[in-house]
Amino acid sequence: MPSPPARPRAFVIGHPIAQSRSPLLHGYWLQTLGLAGSYERQDVAPEKLAAFIVALRQDGWAGCNVTVPHKQAVMAFLDEVSPAARAIGAVNTIWRDGERLLGDNTDSFGFLANLDERAPGWDEASKQAVVLGAGGAARAVLFALLSRGFTIALTNRTFERAQELEIAFGSKVKAYDATQVPGLLSSCDVLVNTTALGMVGKPNLSVDLTPLKPSALVHDIVYVPLRTELLIQAEARGHRTVDGLGMLIHQAIPGFERWFGVRPLPDATLRARLEADIL
Ligand code: ATR
Repeated sequence: MPSPPARPRAFVIGHPIAQSRSPLLHGYWLQTLGLAGSYERQDVAPEKLAAFIVALRQDGWAGCNVTVPHKQAVMAFLDEVSPAARAIGAVNTIWRDGERLLGDNTDSFGFLANLDERAPGWDEASKQAVVLGAGGAARAVLFALLSRGFTIALTNRTFERAQELEIAFGSKVKAYDATQVPGLLSSCDVLVNTTALGMVGKPNLSVDLTPLKPSALVHDIVYVPLRTELLIQAEARGHRTVDGLGMLIHQAIPGFERWFGVRPLPDATLRARLEADIL
């Protein structure tokens, strides 16, 4: 087997890609760990995806992160896809094992590691979650919560999408109409927003937190802005809250380790740099 390149090259691919914060993250770790290697943005239009993967195989690149709109389409070009990626239905990290290209989805890992870091013990009491939204991000969140033994009430503007996830993820996920949220909150231990609502440029999420169990943790995977209206409201009511920035940081760790051979640790300086980039 050929030895790995002395200066591994990794990428993030998407279309558009200018907004990706992944180069900031991986560039920080390469620099602070003193590693030879590079991590660059690549704008890959959908019709160029197949050619990009051929180049990835031929040119000895270490691998890449994958973002919108390629996370589903790229799966067809890989030799193997992890169980997490298969269940979530999307790949966000590709690396090579000799000649083979392997795909994983690290969003559920990032989701759990963020909560473990910012709210230790969050999953140790009773395990009833309410998840808002039924898009791609919700699939990663469901996969993660199920792995920690949660039962999940899922609601979405478009009820049929929530029903599809109920069917896909099994009996511990139950779809509810959005009008039923108030009734679900009284027994909720962990409330998670996976919708785009509350993100800069989108309307705010409108949920009345009055019925929410006082001990409940409130987590928003949105991180622009860092403190969404949902988190501000939850804090005002005395709930423990966790923002979404740590998920971005943690989901990047497995890819970096596979490409560059060192497992990075999240630190306060990196978080501060990302916060400054968001503001
Ligand atoms: P992602 O991959 O980031 O989850 P997505 O698949 O487009 O993106 O899903 C976005 C989620 O935000 C969906 O749950 C969507 O609800 P619908 O399935 O009804 O579209 C939710 N969402 C987006 N805009 C919304 C809005 N204005 N009101 C309510 N929900 C919204």
